[in-house]
Amino acid sequence: MIKIFDTTLRDGEQSPGFSMNLREKLIMAKQLENLGVDVIEAGFAAASDDDFESVRQIGEMCENTEVCGLARCHEQDIEATMKALVDAAKPRVHVFIATSDIHLEHKLKMTRDEAIKKAIMGVKLARSFTSMVDFSPEDATRSDRKFLVEILTEAIKAGADTLNIPDTVGYSTPEEFGDLIKFIRENVPGADKVIISTHCHNDLGMAVANSLAGVRNGATQVECTINGIGERAGNAALEEVVMAMKTRPDLYPGATGIITPQLFATSKLLQQITGQKVQPNKAIVGRNAFAHEAGIHQHGVMNYSLTYEIMKPEDVGYQSSQLILGKHSGRKALAARLEGLGIKVSSERLDSIFKKFKALADRKKNIYDEDLIMVAMDYDVDKKFELVSARIFSEKDKMAKADCVIRCGEEMEEIEAEGDGPVSALYSAIVKVSRLKGQLTSFAINALTPEKEAVGMVNIEWTDGDGKQWYGHASDTDVTVAAGKALIDVLNRMEIRRVYDREQGRLQFVM
Ligand code: KIV
Ligand code: ZN
Repeated sequence: MIKIFDTTLRDGEQSPGFSMNLREKLIMAKQLENLGVDVIEAGFAAASDDDFESVRQIGEMCENTEVCGLARCHEQDIEATMKALVDAAKPRVHVFIATSDIHLEHKLKMTRDEAIKKAIMGVKLARSFTSMVDFSPEDATRSDRKFLVEILTEAIKAGADTLNIPDTVGYSTPEEFGDLIKFIRENVPGADKVIISTHCHNDLGMAVANSLAGVRNGATQVECTINGIGERAGNAALEEVVMAMKTRPDLYPGATGIITPQLFATSKLLQQITGQKVQPNKAIVGRNAFAHEAGIHQHGVMNYSLTYEIMKPEDVGYQSSQLILGKHSGRKALAARLEGLGIKVSSERLDSIFKKFKALADRKKNIYDEDLIMVAMDYDVDKKFELVSARIFSEKDKMAKADCVIRCGEEMEEIEAEGDGPVSALYSAIVKVSRLKGQLTSFAINALTPEKEAVGMVNIEWTDGDGKQWYGHASDTDVTVAAGKALIDVLNRMEIRRVYDREQGRLQFVM
């Protein structure tokens, strides 16, 4: 059994752009419990009142999961952690001290002997409170191995039940890190009685590979984070470590307790809370992780999914693999997607739809279901909603105002609204007129041309009241107007879907 120690709320949360408030941390901790992690590192109690409170409240909330607080080998740090965890069902304390000469000399200004004394004091104090104590020699991969053996031996003697081996600066490689774990197992007296854990950073892009090499060499706990967030380039990504072990039991025989169909939802929750999206091609949880665009791939997956899929999308919480259509997609994929939408077409009709689809795909990168419905139905999207005019007033430190005319079908609506900034004012106006529910969950502007009068392209994601995502894009020389048009694009897509759902039976007949 491999233990999964999640440090999303500590190492992950401490990196720029990923901070969470108490409520968000509690929501995330609840989901980590649902996911089945063995340990949640909830924060660094001595760092701030907020951190203390999150360790305390997460500790109180979790019944089945161990909740851990991080502490330096300082009495006041460890005491704060113990105080925060006093009502936790399963409290764990994680103490650390740097062991590399670089850190000892330039950061701690301490000798090796002094570090050993501090480590013993820290582990003993934590051990007086709980039997679940992790000890980490920070910067272990750049530490002298003989000294590592000494300090780890003392940590075991002082009562640590877990030795966590950090590659703090992401310097190691899989061969070297695996060898270090093996060395520790073979040379530290008592190492066979404790858990050896990995904690790898991703500075050279090897955090997951290094963690897995650790497991191959006897580590039975992996410290990791959702989406691989963490200091600098991040930590080992939990979803990648877990799915690598699940997909290759021939290489990693020990199972984890992770409920893998919860992976996608957990990743998505973190993205929503922090506002930081993973890249589309991110392994396991990226938007494209199970999307096949190339015609040959789509054909293969439709015939037998294992041709191009090494994992089942359902195993990580995807409903099914998405066949996103694009310019490389063939007639077969188009027909299958149409059929999936309930649109059955004759072979001649498919020819004409395919031609229109290819022309559209030359202009647009991804073709979503609503685009296909539009092509198949000859439905003119521009008819329902249109941003006819928009006057936007904004001034530094003042609320912005939007005064616009929006056409909804035959009606012209004149509307005024306010917002924190120009886009927010314009969006308030559009939302008022259309009574659109939900919220903006992603917003990106790119310049289409580099010149001064560049055209701005805005891509947005809108999550509706039922949690479904809709995409909108539009361009204009005025980026605020482009943003408004992108939301109008979302409204038109929703409208297409509404018309389609209402008239589905009739349309199938028409085809
Ligand atoms: O990267 C690191 O060394 C750490 C320790 C505190 C475990 O995060
Ligand atoms: Zn770290």
